[in-house]
Amino acid sequence: MMAQMDFEFYRDLLQKNSGIHLTPDKEYLLTTRITPLCKTLGYADLDEYTRHLRSKPEPVSIAAVVDAMTTNETSFFRDGKPFQHLKSDILTRLIEARAETKKLRIWSAACSTGQEAYSIAMTLNEMGDKLAGWSIEILGTDIADHVLQKARSGEYNNFEIQRGLPMPMTVKYFTQKNGQWVIKDELRRRTDFKKFNLLENPARLGVFDIIFCRNVLIYFNQETKLQVLKNIRSVMAADGMLLLGSCENVLSDKSGFRPVENMHGCYMRGA
Ligand SMILES: C[S@@+](CC[C@H](N)C(=O)[O-])C[C@H]1O[C@@H](n2cnc3c(N)ncnc32)[C@H](O)[C@@H]1O
Repeated sequence: MMAQMDFEFYRDLLQKNSGIHLTPDKEYLLTTRITPLCKTLGYADLDEYTRHLRSKPEPVSIAAVVDAMTTNETSFFRDGKPFQHLKSDILTRLIEARAETKKLRIWSAACSTGQEAYSIAMTLNEMGDKLAGWSIEILGTDIADHVLQKARSGEYNNFEIQRGLPMPMTVKYFTQKNGQWVIKDELRRRTDFKKFNLLENPARLGVFDIIFCRNVLIYFNQETKLQVLKNIRSVMAADGMLLLGSCENVLSDKSGFRPVENMHGCYMRGA
């Protein structure tokens, strides 16, 4: 069992550097995720590693702990409905609203291994001629390096592909290479992946028309959630749309968002 003092050390480190909120019942998670990291780095056990980290909390070591403590569960077209809303409502409205500039910027915040960003890219591609000649940018960001590496590679195994991707879409948008499915260049060209911590000010990322920020707020406490939502709002176009995960919400109108009627999980800027 981990000493209370050590648990508190990791809890505070995660809170400060990622916003991930570790409740006391998550001690097992900490042990099971940090122990392999100690082994990889050549430490005898968790105690020795923790002693080292306490005495030398270097940014690269902190990033490794944060990376190990992230939960990266994701899939193509996760939860289905948000992508239907994207296709039938959100894009239809924004295509009209941006008819002059013909420009759309979409942010998959906390994109994990990239399935969300590529699902957005496929949805846009399915709009066909309606987006012909448009400048489209899909930015995926995450705090964890190992997921960004995979997202950039655009390579998925059979199991990952079968989770959410219908066969006709697989064949249309992926090619096979060494037993992996690789995203085609036409979609890859529209996507970019960058490291970004949601606790930071996102101004340097620019303004977005649509923001997916799904299944990440659940790891934050109320105060962090509110701050992250305010940050997100600051880079969302006045008529833009925010999509959250099915179990998440904007807490209250203090965040500056209001739910969109009949579109569960979709929010626009409030007053
Ligand atoms: C459960 S995944 C969600 C992936 C995807 N959005 C989805 O809904 O399928 C949560 C992701 O949030 C990322 N994350 C956690 N804290 C973060 C932070 N402070 N800034 C950016 N990303 C963070 C994790 O690394 C992880 O990949």
